[in-house]
Amino acid sequence: MSNDVESNDGERYFSRNAPAARSARVWTLLASIAAIAGVAAHVYGLTDGKRVAEALGGLAPATANATGSKGAAAGADDAVAALRKITDYEAARWHPLHFKPAIATATNEQCLTCHQEVLKTTVSAKSPAGVEAQNSIAWYQTLDTYAGRQETFHSRHLTTPFARQTMNLSCNFCHQGHDPREEAPGSSATAAPQGKEAGFTLRKVVDPSSTCLLCHGSFPAENMGLAGTWHENREALETDEAPNGCLSCHAEQFRTVRHRVNYLNSDAIEALAKAGSSDTCFGCHGGRSWFRISYPYPRHPWPGMDASEVPDWAKGRSAESRPEHQIKK
Ligand code: HEC
Ligand code: HEC
Ligand code: HEC
Ligand code: HEC
Ligand code: HEC
Repeated sequence: MSNDVESNDGERYFSRNAPAARSARVWTLLASIAAIAGVAAHVYGLTDGKRVAEALGGLAPATANATGSKGAAAGADDAVAALRKITDYEAARWHPLHFKPAIATATNEQCLTCHQEVLKTTVSAKSPAGVEAQNSIAWYQTLDTYAGRQETFHSRHLTTPFARQTMNLSCNFCHQGHDPREEAPGSSATAAPQGKEAGFTLRKVVDPSSTCLLCHGSFPAENMGLAGTWHENREALETDEAPNGCLSCHAEQFRTVRHRVNYLNSDAIEALAKAGSSDTCFGCHGGRSWFRISYPYPRHPWPGMDASEVPDWAKGRSAESRPEHQIKK
């Protein structure tokens, strides 16, 4: 399969590989310690391209998902080989693969031919003012669902253990084309038009409301008839035998048809949620809410649903996930 980014030398544009024997030894030592903590694959993932390739082993490129045939794999190799030949900075920066419509067909492997820096860069251990990263952690970073030390944004969505278990994100899930010149949709005749179709918003390289908001919205308590925060509610709902309070309503009663999309591992999510606590579910539905609103999720009909009454908040909701995310049958 063409997930293998091992042979790529993506750094040639951006960063230098420093495979000093000494640092390799330090990493080996660190890695053996990490192995004991069960996070070896993850730490290795940050040290060299080969390991990045392994870390990405489970990361299926979007088009391979759709086709997956032998011929497609050979075509993908050719596509990567062609990209690797590009040495001119401007030609690379303005490569059509960055923009609509080509970006919709891009595989992770193609993007990573030039962009391994997004997975290899690590966060600073200390801020310039001397605050240590490990001493300034957020609430959700203290939970069992959060493994290892602090990592970069891209790692936390592509290579960290929880991300790999629960998600199957591709570069073009978020990156749907951007504008290196004006960084503004609708700013010229050749720029993407304003509105949802642009794929990015002003001064951003993505459109947060169709990407981030899916997993970083606030807890939609009103829609559940729950008063107060999840922290206040969970105590009454959780016991040692049933430590996931979400499942007291969502195991059998409500919205049981969920997560059937190509960028989530739905079975793994349910298994983790059953074995763990509500932190697994809450993490994507309020626990890391960078937004004050929540995503207007599709409302898939579920067995036992009373279809005769539609609550006001649910009027106009789709009964299906967005077409590009549906699992092809
Ligand atoms: C042929 C090499 C090449 C390929 C393939 C490539 N890029 Fe790039 N990309 C570049 C270069 C060069 C830049 C400019 C970097 C800079 O100025 O720091 C860039 C810039 C970017 C930026 C920053 C844009 C900005 O305005 O700040 C993003 C985001 C990006 N690429 C994403 C992607 C994604 C996603 C893919 C796959 C669909 C991809 N790239 C494929 C070479 C490439
Ligand atoms: C979960 C959404 C998401 C995914 C998945 C994602 N990116 Fe990004 N990416 C972003 C956002 C948001 C930024 C802007 C970060 C910033 O402005 O600092 C970004 C920035 C970048 C940049 C600009 C350089 C930088 O660090 O600011 C590059 C290049 C890039 N991404 C490439 C990729 C590639 C290649 C992949 C797939 C291996 C990928 N991204 C997957 C959301 C994503
Ligand atoms: C499909 C779900 C999903 C989408 C879409 C998504 N995230 Fe996340 N995000 C997660 C999960 C899950 C984690 C926790 C990963 C872990 O613990 O390893 C996370 C973690 C984070 C973190 C915390 C990192 C840390 O180390 O504390 C930030 C910041 C973040 N996401 C920002 C974004 C932004 C910005 C976007 C949109 C460009 C985005 N996310 C899109 C699921 C998602
Ligand atoms: C007391 C029962 C109950 C508990 C506990 C509960 N929910 Fe819900 N939830 C509901 C009901 C009822 C709905 C709305 C069903 C409908 O569509 O009519 C709902 C809807 C949702 C929705 C969809 C909201 C929308 O706008 O479409 C999400 C997401 C959700 N719940 C996640 C969770 C998570 C995560 C937890 C645990 C942190 C949780 N729920 C705990 C009863 C509950
Ligand atoms: C990795 C992030 C993530 C985790 C973990 C997660 N969800 Fe979701 N959830 C999502 C996303 C993204 C959607 C929207 C999917 C779509 O577009 O169909 C969603 C949709 C839903 C919906 C709407 C269902 C419908 O009608 O389509 C409910 C209810 C829900 N989740 C409950 C839960 C519960 C309960 C758990 C724990 C068992 C959980 N989620 C764990 C990301 C997550």
